[in-house]
Amino acid sequence: MDFAPELVQYLRKADRFAALTGAGASQESGLRTFRDAQSGLWAQYKPTELASPEAFARDPKLVWDWYAWRREAVKSVRPNAGHYALHELAQRVPHFTVITQNVDGLHEFVKQESLKVSETFRDYPILELHGNIQRVRCSECGAFTEEWGDDSEFVPRCGGCGGLLRPDVVWFGEALPRSALEAAVESARRCDVFLSIGTSGLVQPAASLGFAAHNRGALVIEINLEPTPLTPKADYFFQGRSGEILPELVQAVWG
Ligand code: APR
Repeated sequence: MDFAPELVQYLRKADRFAALTGAGASQESGLRTFRDAQSGLWAQYKPTELASPEAFARDPKLVWDWYAWRREAVKSVRPNAGHYALHELAQRVPHFTVITQNVDGLHEFVKQESLKVSETFRDYPILELHGNIQRVRCSECGAFTEEWGDDSEFVPRCGGCGGLLRPDVVWFGEALPRSALEAAVESARRCDVFLSIGTSGLVQPAASLGFAAHNRGALVIEINLEPTPLTPKADYFFQGRSGEILPELVQAVWG
């Protein structure tokens, strides 16, 4: 892909970068996006209808099992070229923040991998706005649990208070972790460059971050298979797969 010389120049000089990622950023790792048609066992359920406190109250076992299935799927996948390109970018620009709606932990995976082997590793924040599917906590007392027995009949319970265990993810209608959200809003407002990657931009408050960045004068770059509500505000819209476009962009600008 050819990138405009003025874009390349701008990115080389920019100071603060924020990148918002959605399910599309993990699609090339083999994970389904949220609004894709599901197949197989879960085809009859809409993900958006399982990810809610009401669904858990109605049928906790159904919701627990769906997350258990997704947790297993996440364990078996690895970051893709797009995750690595974002990490590479973070190593090259002065300030970089990843804001992710994904609960798969793949950005953190790349960072930890690099931390082990790189002598020049530079740390950067990864804000998990919607939690992390590998963590489990009590739905009553909030205590985190490292181990639980998966029972075929019942949802596992908290060793402390006996409440039902649930994934540490944000469901529809629930508040986002306050410090992560505040940091995300701050980085969207202060950045020079905002990248929106593989998100449909349909879920608030994450969806408003790109608009906030645009309103504050940041350059907005969007990478997606298809246009989204943010596209009209984007300075550059690259249509395609993030695992292909991001490495090309990083190579063209900082390679
Ligand atoms: N590269 C770039 N974009 C992609 C790719 C890819 N390889 N594959 C899919 N996409 C795009 C799709 O075109 C779509 O716009 O990624 C987007 C995925 O959208 P959603 O499934 O709606 O995922 P997301 O935006 O992350 O959803 C937000 O909704 O249900 C909640 O909590 C859940 O975090 C999730 C939130």
